[in-house]
Amino acid sequence: MSLDSFLAELDGLVADAGKAFASAADAAALEAARIEFLGAAKGRLKGVQKGLGAVSKEDKPAAGKRLNEVKAQLEADFEAAKVRLASAGPATKSGSQFDPTLPGKPLRVGRLHPLSQTIDELKDIMGRLGFTVADGPEIEDEWHNFEALNIPAEHPARDPLENFYLSVAGMASGQRKLAGSAAPSDTQPNREADASRSPLLLRSQTSTVQIRVMERQKPPVRITSLGRVYRPDAADATHYPMFHQIEGLLVDRHVTMADLKSVLRMFATSYLGKDVHVRFRPSFFPFTEPSVEADMQWNDRWIEFGGAGMVDPNVLSAVGYDPEAFSGFAFGLGIERLCMRRHGITDIREFYKNDVRFLEQF
Ligand code: PHE
Repeated sequence: MSLDSFLAELDGLVADAGKAFASAADAAALEAARIEFLGAAKGRLKGVQKGLGAVSKEDKPAAGKRLNEVKAQLEADFEAAKVRLASAGPATKSGSQFDPTLPGKPLRVGRLHPLSQTIDELKDIMGRLGFTVADGPEIEDEWHNFEALNIPAEHPARDPLENFYLSVAGMASGQRKLAGSAAPSDTQPNREADASRSPLLLRSQTSTVQIRVMERQKPPVRITSLGRVYRPDAADATHYPMFHQIEGLLVDRHVTMADLKSVLRMFATSYLGKDVHVRFRPSFFPFTEPSVEADMQWNDRWIEFGGAGMVDPNVLSAVGYDPEAFSGFAFGLGIERLCMRRHGITDIREFYKNDVRFLEQF
């Protein structure tokens, strides 16, 4: 055998073994490659080595030297592959392979809180009935929460035990408006405003927004307002110190109780379904006259949803509307109660525990 063909065989061996060791995907594949190339009995290196005897005497030293180099090279490649596999982590150590065809871990997708979903839906229903959404602050002054709503200072609803008063006082913005006959602009505080600082409280009802809207806007008015209200009630299955209300207000010429009743009926059937009946029971609210308690019949039971009535002329006067020319109706309903009825939720506290097992059902 010529020296050249012996060396060529060795070169081929280096190339093949290098590839096999480098591409071994796990310990078992590497061991198979080791046996194929470096195996003591039938390894390919051994096979090539046998050819050494056929090389001429004067070429033997060169051939033997190269053979030793190749052997060292193969062993080094094998060791490098071993190190590579060991550092690839436990999955490869245990012999398993990353399988890109396995399904991935599903992501947990969040969703809106059931009350947020309800609020969105109620806004939608009111929108279809022609009511636009209005907003008001949750920290209110006594003018918007009481005074302008015909709840005078001595009224029991203003008792500190019935409300969350804040320890800081604020500017009485409503009184400021009414103080001058030509209502001064907000940027020009007048004497009375500076003198009177109103106690502030967390609003106890969304009826405050009625006042805020009517102060800004001439009739006709057709708004809805949804948001948090606060009352110092002990939490139980049906009470929570913070809850949500939806307020409706419509003021125009010739508005009657019949309008109130039909709007509430359409509202109820839109939210709970076609078979819902609406009934009014006489009631009292300082800001409506006459006042009613609105019930809806659902699953053969009458359920109270909130108060309503015709806007009291005193309220219209307080915001500068002419009660002889305009009339209106207003209602305020509990959003939690609506949502609980619809979904069969029996404890209002569920809404505020943030237990995913509850929340993910909606
Ligand atoms: N604000 C009343 C309440 O919280 C509900 C109401 C709103 C009643 C509008 C009449 C008109 O109980």
